[in-house]
Amino acid sequence: MAMVCLLDFEAYAEKYLPKIAWDFFAAGADECSTRDENILAYKRIRFRPRMLRDVSMLDTRTKILGTEISFPVGIAPTGFHQLAWPDGEKSTARAAKAMGTCYIASTYSTCSLEEIAAAAPGGFRWFQLYIHRNRAVSRQLVQQAEALGFQGLVLTADLPYTGKRRNDVRNGFRLPPHMKLKNLEGAFEGDDRSEYGLPPNSLDPSVTWDDIYWLRSLTHLPIVIKGILTKEDAELAVRHGVQGIIVSNHGGRQLDGAPATIDALVEVVEAVRDRVEVYLDGGIRKGSDVLKALALGAKCVFIGRPALWGLAYKGEEGLQDVLRILRDEFRLSMALAALLVLEAQCLTSKEKVPLSERDLSS
Ligand code: FNR
Repeated sequence: MAMVCLLDFEAYAEKYLPKIAWDFFAAGADECSTRDENILAYKRIRFRPRMLRDVSMLDTRTKILGTEISFPVGIAPTGFHQLAWPDGEKSTARAAKAMGTCYIASTYSTCSLEEIAAAAPGGFRWFQLYIHRNRAVSRQLVQQAEALGFQGLVLTADLPYTGKRRNDVRNGFRLPPHMKLKNLEGAFEGDDRSEYGLPPNSLDPSVTWDDIYWLRSLTHLPIVIKGILTKEDAELAVRHGVQGIIVSNHGGRQLDGAPATIDALVEVVEAVRDRVEVYLDGGIRKGSDVLKALALGAKCVFIGRPALWGLAYKGEEGLQDVLRILRDEFRLSMALAALLVLEAQCLTSKEKVPLSERDLSS
C-alpha cells in the first residue's frame, strides 16, 4: 500500500489495530461534532496565493520557546502509545528527535519519563501534566520531568473530567493488563483502574488559574497551557504568566459543541497580541492545514491522532513517514502560496513579514 497522505495511515490503523484501540484513538465526545468540525473548518478557508516570487529557496524552520525545530509541526500529547506499537512512547521520542521536532509526552504514557528520555537523548521534549487530587504525585512528575531534561511543562486545562466517548463506554475500554501508566505506578491505592487505567476521580476537578502559581513554584520550566479556546481565557493565561498557549479542544474528545480550533485561533491570537506564543492542535491532516494555521497566527501546530496512526503503521519509522509527508506537503504549500519564511506568523504583527500578503480569506 503506497502511503501518500496522512489519511492512508488512518486507513491502515483502522484496518489493523484491534477495534478497542482504534475506537479509543478515534473517539470524540458525544456525537463527535467538534472532532469532525476540527477537520471540516480547514476546508472552508481559502488562500489567496501570490505568483512569480522566486520560491526556489524555502525555509521551514522555526523556533518555539527559543528552540529551533525543523518545521512547525510537533507531536501533541496522547496517552497509551503501546496500544499502537509495542515500544510505545520510546518510538515516538526517537521519531521526533530524528525529524528535529518537539514531542509533548503525556502524563498517561505507557513508558516512563526516564524511558522516554533515555530512548532519544538530547531530544526536544515537553511534559504534559494532568493535575491529580494527590498533588504530591503531580509535583513529583513535574520535578522529575525537569530533572530529566524536558524543556517545557504543558498544563492541560480542558479535562476536569473525561468527556463521554460512546464507543469507549460500549467497549468497556481498559488498558490491557500488560500495559501500565508507568508514570503513575504506585501513585494510587486500590485495584480499581476503571477510568482509562486509573482509579475513578483521580484527576482534580477543582483546579483554577491560581494553580498556575503553584506550578510556577515547583519548576523553572516554561509553562504552556493547553485547551484554550476564547479570548477571555487567553488573557487570563497571559496574566497568570504562562509562556505559551495551545489552542485545543482535545481533538473533540471533551466538550462536544466546542469550536473548531482553527476557528478559535484568531480570537486567541488577537487577544494575546504577541505577548506569548500561540500554538494549535486539532484536525491537522495536510501541509496546507499547517500553513493556514500559521497564516492565522499560530507559531507551530501539533498532531495527535496522525502520530498514533504512524506508530500503528511501523512504529518509529511510520511516525517519521507521517512527519516527513506533512513537512513535504507544508513546504509545497509554502511554495505554491509564495510564503517564503516563517519569521512572523501573526496577523497582528504586520511589521515583520508581509502578512497582508498571506491574504487568507475565509
Ligand atoms: C489525546 N489528547 C490528549 N491531550 C492531553 O493533553 N493529554 C493526553 O494524555 C491526551 N491523550 C489523548 C489520547 C488520544 C487517543 C487522543 C486522540 C488525544 C488530545 C491531544 O493532545 C490533541 O489535543 C488532539 O489529539 C489534537 O487533535 P488531532 O490532531 O488528533 O485531530
